[in-house]
Amino acid sequence: MSRLKRAFRKTLVEFFKKTSLNGFGLLYFIRRRPYQRIFWFLFIATGISGATFVVCTTLLQFLARPTVTSLSEASFESVESLPFPALSICSANKLSRQRLEAFAEQLALTNGKSRADWLKQLQLLAGYFYPLAVSATAAAELQAALAALWPLDVRRQLLHFSPSCESLLLSCHVDGVASNCSELFRLTPSLEGSCCVLQRTDRISNALRLRLNASHADDFHMPRPGFSSAFSLHLPGWLGRATLAPGEASALHLRPLHLKADPQLRDYPLTQRGCHFPEEAEHLVQCLPQCRLRSTVAACNCAPFVYDLSSADGQLENVSYCNLAHTACLQSVEGKQS
Ligand SMILES: *[C@@H]1O[C@H](CO)[C@@H](O)[C@H](O)[C@H]1NC(C)=O
Ligand SMILES: *[C@@H]1O[C@H](CO)[C@@H](O)[C@H](O)[C@H]1NC(C)=O
Ligand SMILES: *[C@@H]1O[C@H](CO)[C@@H](O)[C@H](O)[C@H]1NC(C)=O
Repeated sequence: MSRLKRAFRKTLVEFFKKTSLNGFGLLYFIRRRPYQRIFWFLFIATGISGATFVVCTTLLQFLARPTVTSLSEASFESVESLPFPALSICSANKLSRQRLEAFAEQLALTNGKSRADWLKQLQLLAGYFYPLAVSATAAAELQAALAALWPLDVRRQLLHFSPSCESLLLSCHVDGVASNCSELFRLTPSLEGSCCVLQRTDRISNALRLRLNASHADDFHMPRPGFSSAFSLHLPGWLGRATLAPGEASALHLRPLHLKADPQLRDYPLTQRGCHFPEEAEHLVQCLPQCRLRSTVAACNCAPFVYDLSSADGQLENVSYCNLAHTACLQSVEGKQS
């Protein structure tokens, strides 16, 4: 037995002498200085127990919430199961010259100013799209001058003054078959102006071909900040937008990428998984526009025309649309948000 003990001891000493592990060698070389030896022993023991603790907790964490990677190839045999994205097409021309001329005519009849004067004044309607592009006092003066001729339903009025989708879209081909553009697209107010937004996405299984009207005959020039192009196309879920100049053709090839999360992930708290399932994120998609709406309502007590108040509920019930008299307030809100 004692031989075995001696052999063990010898081996241990040999190990501490030769080992390349940091610190262990010291236990052998300073064996004549007991205090130092005790210090180094404790030092190393603390290190080892710390490392063991970290390894064990990581291991337990992994066993409790394993990392699952599963790759499978989803097949899209039925293209119908994949909805065509809601495409919006916006003309750089936000308001129709023809319609504004008619409005200016109507204004001239009720008031001393000439039609041309009114038309020039109406350029301040740019304040609805870019509050920062117009003078707040001039815009408020126009609002006062329009008075009763400017309806409370600003949204409907601006929609009426927008170039129609019928004049913007010359032809629409769905999967190679000519279709009625008016049935496919609907004019929808947005900060980009009124855009034609694709409605019947379920009918398109393969390709959508559009021919746009590049005529400038109906353009109404308004002050606007920065660069603007003839048309812009935007697809939700794609953070880019394509812009198109007259005479240009553009083909956008859409390749669907379907990401499907393992249902096991639902057991993980949100903070750990760092991503949402689609139904968990619905409110998040709406979050930024809602936040802008709320801050505008709080500051100016009115809602920008791009929000549909008729579908709003609760607190927004009695809120009306902002008009040009609110330009100064909208400018300060815009200044804070950008
Ligand atoms: C397209 O549809 C609209 C409304 O649905 C209709 O008024 C129009 O006549 C149609 N145009 C053609 C060319 O069929
Ligand atoms: C193209 O747009 C112009 C200006 O809006 C309009 O006068 C014209 O009728 C449109 N062309 C077609 C074919 O709709
Ligand atoms: C809206 O106005 C009506 C009548 O003025 C009032 O009875 C109602 O409480 C108001 N609603 C809200 C949410 O303020």
